[in-house]
Amino acid sequence: MTTPTYAEILSVVADDFAIMDKQVFGSLNSKVRLVMQVSKHVIDAGGKRMRPLITLLTARMLKDEQNKQALELGAITEMLHTATLVHDDVIDESGLRRGKPTANATWNNATAVLVGDYLIARSFNLLVGFGNMPLLKVFSDGTCDIAEGEVLQLQHQYNIETTESDYRQIIDGKTSRLFMMATKGAALLQGREDLLDVLGDFGYHFGNAFQMIDDVLDFSGDRETMGKNLGDDLAEGKPTLPIIKTLEILKDTNPNGYDKLRIAVQTGNIDHVDELIKLVQSSGALAYCKDCALQETRLAQQALANLPDNRYRQALYQLTELASSRLM
Ligand code: IPE
Ligand code: IPE
Ligand code: MG
Ligand code: MG
Repeated sequence: MTTPTYAEILSVVADDFAIMDKQVFGSLNSKVRLVMQVSKHVIDAGGKRMRPLITLLTARMLKDEQNKQALELGAITEMLHTATLVHDDVIDESGLRRGKPTANATWNNATAVLVGDYLIARSFNLLVGFGNMPLLKVFSDGTCDIAEGEVLQLQHQYNIETTESDYRQIIDGKTSRLFMMATKGAALLQGREDLLDVLGDFGYHFGNAFQMIDDVLDFSGDRETMGKNLGDDLAEGKPTLPIIKTLEILKDTNPNGYDKLRIAVQTGNIDHVDELIKLVQSSGALAYCKDCALQETRLAQQALANLPDNRYRQALYQLTELASSRLM
C-alpha cells in the first residue's frame, strides 16, 4: 500500500484543522504591535502543524465529535512549538526556517527571544483558561523538559565525546516531549486518563523517530524540501546521531577523515562542508541512523495497536509511515 500524502491524512480532520489553524495566530492579542508583527511572520511562514494534527487526530480517535477545547489545545501546542523554533533559531544562529528568513535574521536576537517568551507566556495564559489542573501539569512539566533538552544540547555543543545515550536524552526533551503533550493533552480533554501511558508512549517514540529523521536529512535532504540549510547541524557543532556514529566509524577506518570531522564539530568551521557531508554519507552512519528511526517508528506503531481502532488511529499510523518515508 502506498503511503498517503500529508494532505490526505489531514483531510480526515479537515474541518477541525481549519478552525485550529486560524486560532494559532487568532489567539494572540498583544497590545504591542511588534509582538503581533513578529508572531505573524513566523506563524504565517507555514509549517506542517503536525503537533496540532496529532492532537486533533488523537481527540477524534478517543471520541468522534468536535471538541472545541481540543482545537484550542492544538493551537496552543503549535504556539509553543513556534516559540521553541524562534528561540532555537537564535541559539543555532539559523537564517532560514520554513523557507523564510528567521525572526532573528529579520529583526534581531533580542526581539526573537522576547517574542518567543511572549508566545510561551500566552500559551500558558490560554491553558489556564481550561481550568484543568492535570492538563496544566502535563504542559508545564513538558515545557520544562523541552527547555532542559535544549540546554543539555547546548552543553554538548562542540563536544565530540557526546554519546548516543546523551543524544537520546537531548531529543527526548527538545522534541519528543511536545509530541507527548500533544497526545496526552487530547486524552485528558476526552476524559481518557486510562490511556495516558500508552498515548505517551506513542508520542515519545514518534517524536524520537521524527527528530532522528530530521537529523539524517540534514546530511541527505535538500534545502528546498526542508526549508532550511543542509549541513546546519555541523555548522552548529551539534553532535547529532549521524555525526556521533560517523566519528565512531571513522575513528577505526579512516583517521584522516575522522580528524577532519572531529575538527569541524569542535570548531563549527565548515569551510569544506560538501566534503564533510560526503564523509558522513559514505561512512555507513546514515544507514544506522535510519534503522534507529525505523525502530522508533515501529515502537510508536505498536503503541497505537493498544488504542481504539478507527480511521483516526489509521491516520496516526499513516503519519508515522509518512514521516519515516522521508528517509526512502
Ligand atoms: C522542526 O519541526 C523541529 C524539529 C523537531 C525537527 P517541524 O519539522 O515539525 O517544523 P514545522 O513546524 O513543520 O516548520
Ligand atoms: C528544533 O531543533 C527545535 C526544537 C526541537 C526545540 P533542531 O535545532 O534540531 O531543529 P532545526 O534543524 O532547527 O529545525
Ligand atoms: Mg535549529
Ligand atoms: Mg537546535
